[in-house]
Amino acid sequence: MSKAESYKHPEAESLLRPDVGVQPQFARNKKARRPASSYRYDSSLSPALEWDGRNPARELGEALIREILEAKSLEEAKAAADKLKAMSAPFLNWAGKAERLSFDVPTLPLFVHERLSTKAILETVSTHKRDKQLDFLADLFGDPQHSVTDQILKAYEHLDKWVNRMIFGDSLVVMNSLIQYEGLAGQVQMIYMDPPYGVKFGSNFQPFVRKRDVKHNDDEDMTREPEMVKAYRDTWELGLHSYLTYLRDRLLLSRELLSPTGSIFVQINDENVHHVREVMDEVFGTENFVSQINFQTTTGFETSTIATLGDFLLWYAKDKGLVKVRKVFQEQQVTLGNGTAGWVLLPDGTSRGVSAAEKRGEQPLPEGARLYGPDNLVSQGAAKSPQPFDYQGKTYLPGGNAHWKSNYPEGMQRLADSRRIHVAKNSIRFRRFLEDFPFQEMGNIWTDTQTGSFTDAKVYAVQTNIKVAQRCILMTTDPGDLVIDPTCGSGTTAYVAEQWGRRWITMDVSRVPLALARQRLLTATFAYYELQSDSRGPAGGFVYKRKQNKKGEEVGGIVPHITLESIAKNEPPKDEVLVDRPEEIKTITRITGPFTFEATIPTVLDLDEDTGVELGAGDSTFYDRMLEVLRRSPVLRLEGNETVTFKNVRRPTKTLCLSAEALVDASAPGQKVSLSEACEEAVEKTSNLLPLTSKPVAFVFGPENGSVTEALVFESAREAYAKSYTHLYVIGFGVQPNARLLVSNCEEVIGVPATYVEATHDLMMGDLLKNTRSSQIFSVCGLPDVKLQRVKSEKKGEPDTYTITLRGLDVFDPVTMEPIHRSGKDVPAWFLDTDYNEQGCFRVCQAFFPRTSAWENLKRALKGEYEDSVWQHLAGDTSTPFEPGECGRIDVEPRDRVPPRERFSPHRLDRVGFVLFDRDDHTLHAERPGEV
Ligand SMILES: C[S@@+](CC[C@H](N)C(=O)[O-])C[C@H]1O[C@@H](n2cnc3c(N)ncnc32)[C@H](O)[C@@H]1O
Repeated sequence: MSKAESYKHPEAESLLRPDVGVQPQFARNKKARRPASSYRYDSSLSPALEWDGRNPARELGEALIREILEAKSLEEAKAAADKLKAMSAPFLNWAGKAERLSFDVPTLPLFVHERLSTKAILETVSTHKRDKQLDFLADLFGDPQHSVTDQILKAYEHLDKWVNRMIFGDSLVVMNSLIQYEGLAGQVQMIYMDPPYGVKFGSNFQPFVRKRDVKHNDDEDMTREPEMVKAYRDTWELGLHSYLTYLRDRLLLSRELLSPTGSIFVQINDENVHHVREVMDEVFGTENFVSQINFQTTTGFETSTIATLGDFLLWYAKDKGLVKVRKVFQEQQVTLGNGTAGWVLLPDGTSRGVSAAEKRGEQPLPEGARLYGPDNLVSQGAAKSPQPFDYQGKTYLPGGNAHWKSNYPEGMQRLADSRRIHVAKNSIRFRRFLEDFPFQEMGNIWTDTQTGSFTDAKVYAVQTNIKVAQRCILMTTDPGDLVIDPTCGSGTTAYVAEQWGRRWITMDVSRVPLALARQRLLTATFAYYELQSDSRGPAGGFVYKRKQNKKGEEVGGIVPHITLESIAKNEPPKDEVLVDRPEEIKTITRITGPFTFEATIPTVLDLDEDTGVELGAGDSTFYDRMLEVLRRSPVLRLEGNETVTFKNVRRPTKTLCLSAEALVDASAPGQKVSLSEACEEAVEKTSNLLPLTSKPVAFVFGPENGSVTEALVFESAREAYAKSYTHLYVIGFGVQPNARLLVSNCEEVIGVPATYVEATHDLMMGDLLKNTRSSQIFSVCGLPDVKLQRVKSEKKGEPDTYTITLRGLDVFDPVTMEPIHRSGKDVPAWFLDTDYNEQGCFRVCQAFFPRTSAWENLKRALKGEYEDSVWQHLAGDTSTPFEPGECGRIDVEPRDRVPPRERFSPHRLDRVGFVLFDRDDHTLHAERPGEV
């Protein structure tokens, strides 16, 4: 296989979103740390208008009365009176609303964990094109100088190097970051929010990547992700009551983010639409309500009363007076006998209604007959002087308190000359021909939005139909505008925004949907809509053209719209733009542009001012709890059902950063007292030798809300060495790559061997889970088994290349608490960074989705341009050959660590394997398991 081309991922320009590896510096930088942000509710909407002295409504009410009494102008008085009046309007109250007049959100920065680009991945296989295709394409473009891939495979690039973003985190925290750290308040054109519907609270989260059917109240189906459980606990404790608080907080931040011309859509079903609408009325103001759209999702299930056919979208504007709206049209549904198809004008100038036989389709319309519907010719309000109009020997008047719609008398005469006047019983009407504009504006009832076998494939239990999100985006944004979805799910909004050249930010509190969304976007293909300006990208707008097919039907993006006004004023018809019909360049396949995967990382809990090292003993509640857990469950699980048990677990006296010390209990049952063969291998894989002496060993606990840092390992190892502990156990919920590296080399670098121990995430979930097994809380997980191979160059002077094979992966099933070995071919996704820069940010240079048809889309779109073996390869376990990059490191990330029952393991976002190159002599050093 030929070697991979190198592709440069666009690096983030903005310092606001550093790579995840700089988190420790960030945490040390006091200026960068921010206090929690406080948001106040509108106190005039206090849920109880009691003037009893405790309610702030009284204070506000009195202030408004004062304002009225002291007003200098009538307007001022009226404005205050209006506010006072609003206070007396009925409102929705719920448990917990009255108690909260404001709420605090932690102000956390966002860090870039991964950079992804489909182009980067395809570049690695671009040398596998079929030769005949190359010739064909070179001919086609007449420009053999250019890379063929560049010509047929493109992604949109946005102004100012904008890169789209997928963010892992609670929407409230993420939106607050966007507002507080990145100044995005007022910059967002549209928000599409599809929250859990506030019913069956337990089934809101899909804990499996491939299992879409989630049962309410089924503990087996309960997610194990701590962030999710926390969100679940915070959000659903009081059922609908907490749900409304959850929504109100997120709506408030959404309003902050919206630009003055922006819109928000909230998707909801009929069980709670009325409540959510009231909450939105409060947050956005009733005056900014735009529409309640009813969209059909099904043909209905049998019920004893009436079938529910769909859900709702609540559309509010930030300011209805300024809102950006682009009309979306659909083709007119023609029913003979109705609307613009109710009458025919015959070639001889006579007209008649469509006959019953014609309606039934038993008789064709006469040759040359033009379908039309009679429309209103008068407007409200009397003219200054009477407007008699003579037509076919009779005089007509517009009627009391009305005037002719067109300019009088010239316009009326032009309408008559163009055969546009229809004579009714005692009045005249305007003849609107079907062909004047065979389209109609989209209303607020959408019946073409059902999901079915011919619509987009569903990968997520609660996936939105593409058409629904698309219509909302097209109605309220232009290409290049920023769209946000605080409830990403499988990424429908991001997918549609990408399709239509909008910039996007999407977020979710669960890794399951984000994994689905990432794969969906990475492997998607779209039509290439021609840009007006290549240099401005989508922000310069798409090209629209007028086009007609052989039958004379309008099939382009510009359609003339003949109106009463254009005829009366003798003007050319207005050009209507059908925003969903830009010009397509059929020879180009468009792929998703580069995007990042980011997450909020809570700043470390307690910082030592001098070293910036988080102290193990920092947050006493958390560390006390961890110490207690270790005391009660002093068992460390190794692979192969081996254990190490500790005794005398206690807090060390006078500690700087160590959290605990203990002795190894050699007499414990099942204890690994001598290194068996199987275990030797496991131990070798995980790190250095485990001590089996009677001398004390030390423990350090990583932070509750973050990963173990390199600085924490360094400082605690130094202390352990100075105090002559024989081993250091670093216990965490996650570990940064550099920290893990230091753990592996700890004996060499600091003089004390160390082991990284993963604590089950169940620990972070309090008593929400029933089945945490106390003996299986701490485990030493195997790392990916990676094989690196050197491929000797066949050509003289060309450097050797390397391939990586993901041979296997040891995962820890959080349900059975058993370690499970998976072959590399069974890992649902794995990524490779061929030039890992140690900053912790993973640039996905090669992406593999073994045993899936994930790349099928692209394969089809590229119509055999690549050899079939390429697609098999992208679904396999061995990388394309590559040259070592400048950083001299590569990193392998088996992404979805999914045990057999397809549970998406709640593991953290860190990396699991990297290998070091020595660029000078091209030797390789295995830093992590696997061979060289
Ligand atoms: C109804 S689904 C969205 C489905 C999405 N429209 C699609 O097409 O796939 C709601 C999503 O919101 C996420 N979610 C719930 N609470 C959240 C929170 N507090 N922050 C961020 N995401 C949240 C859930 O994980 C779930 O994926």
